[in-house]
Amino acid sequence: MPATVVVGTQWGDEGKGKVTDLLAKDMALVVRYQGGHNAGHTVVVGGETFALQLVPSGVLYPGTVPVIGNGVVVDPGVLLAEVDSLEAKGIDCSRLRVSGNAHLIMPWHRELDRLTERYLGRNQLGTTRRGIGPAYADKAARVGLRVQDLLDEKIFRQKLDAALKEKNAVLAKVYNRLPLSADEIAGRYLGEYLPRLAPMVADSVGLVHEALEAGRNVLLEGAQATFLDLDHGTYPFVTSSNPVAGGACTGAGVGPRDITSVIGIAKAYVTRVGSGPFPTELGGEEADVLVERGREFGTNTGRRRRPGWFDAVMLRHAVRLNSLTELALTKLDVLDTLPVLRVCVAYDDPVEGRRYQHMPYHQSVLHRVTPVYEELPGWQADLSGATSPGDLPRAARDYVDLLADLAGVPVSVVGVGPGRDQYVRVAA
Ligand code: IMP
Repeated sequence: MPATVVVGTQWGDEGKGKVTDLLAKDMALVVRYQGGHNAGHTVVVGGETFALQLVPSGVLYPGTVPVIGNGVVVDPGVLLAEVDSLEAKGIDCSRLRVSGNAHLIMPWHRELDRLTERYLGRNQLGTTRRGIGPAYADKAARVGLRVQDLLDEKIFRQKLDAALKEKNAVLAKVYNRLPLSADEIAGRYLGEYLPRLAPMVADSVGLVHEALEAGRNVLLEGAQATFLDLDHGTYPFVTSSNPVAGGACTGAGVGPRDITSVIGIAKAYVTRVGSGPFPTELGGEEADVLVERGREFGTNTGRRRRPGWFDAVMLRHAVRLNSLTELALTKLDVLDTLPVLRVCVAYDDPVEGRRYQHMPYHQSVLHRVTPVYEELPGWQADLSGATSPGDLPRAARDYVDLLADLAGVPVSVVGVGPGRDQYVRVAA
């Protein structure tokens, strides 16, 4: 009964989409377990680029059922627009299923996300302003609306009216904004979205367990990543859900023993978007090389990502938090032109005079540490055509081996370009 989790080990944008796509062809089900359309997966198939936000990557394979799990927050307008754009490219989305227990992103969530960020001023989190945080906050406060509420007009109207009573007061009295109209929202959600969404609404937990009981493969796909996790990331510069592998249990409705492997996705260097500490952050020319060669601009918001050297302290923490069984290393080719590469193997805290091999728990320490680097020669060769381990130059293999050694987990796949076939399998 094999369930596999795919989880990002850094701050997102590790190239999970490509690895998920690689695995998805052997899966009966691909289930997204958290996040919303703050995520952006890019998959390049036959020269055509598919930018997926909410729809799990499995949609690109006719034999796979893509499922949006209960742990996801769904903006139905965005979901339907994504379905339209996939279908315009000839992708059949009729197999897509959406959990009835997933929470809906409502218009006030988007509005409040923008307003609270603006009010934070210089302290803003740099959210994607998609309403993700406010939607999860309402879920925890037990005033959220769920996908299944759309199926009963009376219940939907009751919950909508109750929510708006409070939200409109906040919008008007705290933020000096105009109130939102319940009739307008009900018209859009029930009149426009529901007819198209209704056939997709499903008991996603039932689907997952039927597949597992039949011995079929299930992929549990995380969005964002370990260091954006609400509990384990660099709080408060995090997302509002749990991308770590444990989040797959709650967000898809499986127990820990259902999960047989956990694949951590690590980019060959590190990037982050938005604010927050970043010990190995780079400036200058090397930063420009990583951003330009790696096309490090948000799939979602177009923002330039902050680049840095590979951080093995973070990786070791990700191994612990997710109980990773293997690693997929992505975008190794981005490093092709660099003469010297650095890998952070520990942090030095100048105040305590202490060296950290593992992630310091206290945020003040993380803000002030300096990285301890191991230096390696670059390979200065084009990796983009590599298809087997023998095609990788010695220096590239040494780099991959060093990361695997520092993690204590084998690297099974190395990505060498954006195309679906641009990867090298390095271990069984
Ligand atoms: P939110 O998820 O929109 O609330 O944003 C919270 C933080 O997570 C911000 O720093 C975002 O830039 C970051 N974030 C959210 N989704 C992604 C993602 O898919 N990749 C990278 N960063 C993300």
